[in-house]
Amino acid sequence: MTAGRRRVIAVLAAAGVAASLTACAPIADPGWVPPSWPVAADVRVIAPPAPLDLAAAPDVAASVVPVRLRDDAAEVQARTLFLPGVGAFNQAVEDRLRDGLDAASQASGTRYTPTVFARGAGLADRLCVAGSTQLPAAEVLADPALGPAGATGTALVCDVVAAAGTFLGLRVRAVSGSAEEVASDTASITYGDAATGEAATAAGLWADGAADTLSADIVDAVRRDAGALSLAPPSAGDEAQLDAIRAALTTTVPTADGLAFTIAPGFSAPELAALGVLSTTEPLTIEVPAAAAAGLVSPFGARLLEAGASPYAVPPRVGAGWTDCSLTPCVALTYDDGPSRFTPGILDELNARGAVATFFALGQYAAGGRDTLRRMTAEGHEVENHTWNHPNLTDLTAAQVASQIDGTTVALEAASGQPVRVFRPPYGEYNAATLAAAGMAAILWDVDTSDYQHPSTDVLVARAVDPPRPGSIVLVHDIHESTAVATPRILDGLLDRGFTLVTVRQLFDGDLPTSGAWRRAP
Ligand code: NI
Repeated sequence: MTAGRRRVIAVLAAAGVAASLTACAPIADPGWVPPSWPVAADVRVIAPPAPLDLAAAPDVAASVVPVRLRDDAAEVQARTLFLPGVGAFNQAVEDRLRDGLDAASQASGTRYTPTVFARGAGLADRLCVAGSTQLPAAEVLADPALGPAGATGTALVCDVVAAAGTFLGLRVRAVSGSAEEVASDTASITYGDAATGEAATAAGLWADGAADTLSADIVDAVRRDAGALSLAPPSAGDEAQLDAIRAALTTTVPTADGLAFTIAPGFSAPELAALGVLSTTEPLTIEVPAAAAAGLVSPFGARLLEAGASPYAVPPRVGAGWTDCSLTPCVALTYDDGPSRFTPGILDELNARGAVATFFALGQYAAGGRDTLRRMTAEGHEVENHTWNHPNLTDLTAAQVASQIDGTTVALEAASGQPVRVFRPPYGEYNAATLAAAGMAAILWDVDTSDYQHPSTDVLVARAVDPPRPGSIVLVHDIHESTAVATPRILDGLLDRGFTLVTVRQLFDGDLPTSGAWRRAP
């Protein structure tokens, strides 16, 4: 029940009591209820629907790639999410994110760059903060969990507004300025369908002309909310009224019963003026029940309505799901010399965090490690060449180097089912002749943890977590139990600093080098 109706009912109840007193006749009926009036349409004013709390919806959280960016120089922080495999949705989200980052760069005079922070930054917490897109703008900017430090700059926040069947809806809101003076505040909603790969805006849920058709019902709902009892049909809306409704349709979200959108303050109509309401002063959320909306929606909107409250059916993401190292700070963790009996446990830890790694495996273990190598491929990791049995390649003839590399490529590809594109020379030892004989690019590292020395977990974690910069390649080995033990803390430490963990191929933007030797991404 809305505030308006409660007000009206209170007035009617008082009138009923007064009538019974003055007439002195029938005794007041304790079961009396205020009369209700026939409703011209099912369209009604409702409280704004609450967004989904991803922390309480693990199936939804597991299906998306949450992204959190922070660059204090550009005075920007952003939370958003991507939906693996739904390219149109991700493109819309990315466009929105880049617009926000560009605006922040312009306002601050510093171009946004993917940035990491010291351990303890807390950036592993990346989910949308439920309800953040509904907060007052000043609160978005003032909250360090949501906005940039210092409460000045640009904050992008997100909320999941739909998760049913194969559909996900995301509202992204960008606020810039300061808590004292908000310079801009905009929001947009994108829907994705994991079944078809399609995406739609909130307005795209509606068919052309929906605003005109809905106009009279909306005016009727607003006047009923304001206390009117009139059953007279509202007049056809003027252009200003229709513009306000079209703008409202860009806020459309699904509800349990249909679709809802919010009319911004300042909405006016002759029927409201008759009630003394020249224009609305608060945002009003209007719900159109599914039956009433059915003829007014687009094909995409019809499928979203049909999904209704059905259980969320988007599968958990595999691997990184989505990466773009020009937006998020990336690091490639590389495990050498395996696979070993410690490798499956390492895969479990990576998988639990949506993190991926690259395994420079030995050809001699390919057949015996087939199940583990297959699992790496299935879970989005990358398998590359670390020679057959780990010789120092600079001691070998060109034919021996070629044999070490080629035999390993054949064995790893057969076992993993994934093409092998680059190699890592054992001990990092190579020369021009090695590279020529190998016939592929050498991937080295810029962060060496020396984990073969079996340092304490604290020392190993510090060596793996603190030195990396965006674009770094970190060397560890999946043949040491101490490294397997340290892996959860290494992963959490890198995520906490703001890193996205990617494969070497992703670190090179999907385009691995074909020659030369590389210590990090350019
Ligand atoms: Ni090695």
